[in-house]
Parts: sequence; structure tokens; C-alpha cells
Amino acid sequence: MGREELIEVIAPMAGITDGKFCRSFSNKGFDMVTIGGYNSDRETILAGKKIIKRGRSEFDVPLLDFKEHIAHQIKIIKEDNPWNGMISVNLRALTPSPIIDTSMIDGVDVVEINAHCRQPEITNLGCGQSLLFHPEKLERFTQEVVEKAESKVSVKIRANVPGTDIIKISKSVEKAGADYLHVDAMKPGYKCADYDIISLIKQNTNIYLIGNNSIKDLKSAQKMISSGSDGISLARALMKGKLPFDLSLVKFNNSE
Ligand SMILES: Cc1cc2nc3c(=O)[nH]c(=O)nc-3n(C[C@H](O)[C@H](O)[C@H](O)COP(=O)(O)O)c2cc1C
Repeated sequence: MGREELIEVIAPMAGITDGKFCRSFSNKGFDMVTIGGYNSDRETILAGKKIIKRGRSEFDVPLLDFKEHIAHQIKIIKEDNPWNGMISVNLRALTPSPIIDTSMIDGVDVVEINAHCRQPEITNLGCGQSLLFHPEKLERFTQEVVEKAESKVSVKIRANVPGTDIIKISKSVEKAGADYLHVDAMKPGYKCADYDIISLIKQNTNIYLIGNNSIKDLKSAQKMISSGSDGISLARALMKGKLPFDLSLVKFNNSE
């Protein structure tokens, strides 16, 4: 499997997807693992503390220790590990700067702008999912990260957020020059992804599309790809610590 066929272990599952978790999956057919999501500036870190207080576990890394923490997680993934896939860091931030700074940490291959988090403490700050309501702002934000980052750039968005226009958002991310558009194709009220949204985004953009949501077996993985995804990502299906299906059986659109 090459980089053109990206299977990502997204691991952005609060408080769980650290270096140890990602390392345990890295060698199982994934081309990228994602650590986080991290709150990466003073405001989002304070918001994270409030989220923890109401019972949701979050990564709670003080700003002073942030770079060392990420570097340490990368070391855990890479040390004595023959896997040479990419490491992505999912980040919530008010401004592009902490995301750009993270891209400069040794071993970070991708920084992922979190325009996906729907915790009110985060959206009230104007970041996470609230960026979806302001595609122009998301575009400027992404553009600055793309211009200054020393790694590739991904943007994680959520589908079917009432009052948002996913095609406009996707085009903004593409125009800003991001390398990946990572779409949680959530379909409220259903236990499967909204595959039609994935097809629609594919028809309207040329950006590398990572389809996410409810991939738990070969059938759902294949459906995500036949709907137009270039790569796929899994989160909840990995939480029991086991791979739910053989990734080498997945057939990508550009497979020979
Ligand atoms: C408890 C929990 C925490 C999550 N934290 C994050 C996060 O920090 N950043 C992010 O981009 N996505 C986060 N997600 C979303 C997942 O990465 C993924 O998009 C979502 O669960 C749908 O994919 P899945 O069906 O493969 O789990 C979280 C999901 C859960 C259930």
C-alpha cells in the first residue's frame, strides 16, 4: 500500500489516542496515525479543563510542556518500530500559530486543524466546529497554516451540521491549499455514514478526501471508498484495541 492509498488510524478519541495507542496500531496496515486531539493554546486548554470537570476525559497538557509532550508521543510511536508511516497531530486552537509551531516539531508529518469539535466550551471560543459556520475564516486560517507549516496540513470537518454548507466548506479548504480534507460523514439518527455527502464532496472538489465515520468492517470501508473517498480513517472501531478487519483487503480507487 502506498501513500496514495491512505488508511488512517485516527485516533482522535479524547484521552486515549496517545503515542502508546497509535504505536499499537501503526504496523497493522495504516499509513498514518493521528494523536490528539490537543488543545494547543491558553484559551482552549482552559476550555479543556472545564470539559474534564463535566466528566469527559481530555488530554490535559500544560502549554509549557506541550512541545515536549508531542515529541515524547512521537518517540513512543517510532522508537524501535520499523513502521515508516506518517504521524498526524489533531489540534484545537484559536489562531494558526500553535498549529504552525506544532508542525515544526521533529517527526510531525501532518498537522490537522480541528474544525470538528462540538464541545460548547470549544465552539464558544470560535474554534472547532464553529469554524464550519464561517468558511471564509476557515479558509484564511487554513491558508496561513499551509503557508507557514513545515508539515502537510489536514482539515477535519463534520458533515450534516445544521446551518452549514459542506460543499462551500470543502471548496474553501481546497482553495486554501490543504493536503487532506478529513470528513466525519456523520449521519444523525443512523449507525452508518452519510455516503452521499462523500460523493457530493468528491464531485465538487479535487482535494485528497479521507472518509470517516462508522467504518467497522470491510463492507463499510469499501462503501466509503466507492462513494469517492481516497483514503479512510477509523476511530471507535479500534477502541477495543483490535483491528476489526484485514486492511490489506481494502481496494482503493487507484489500486491496480
Ligand atoms: C470520545 C470521543 C472523542 C473524540 N475526540 C476527537 C478529537 O479530539 N478530535 C477529532 O478530530 N475527533 C474526535 N472524535 C471523533 C472521531 O475521531 C471520529 O471522527 C468519530 O468518532 C467518527 O468516526 P468512527 O465512527 O470511526 O469512530 C472523538 C470521538 C469520540 C467518540
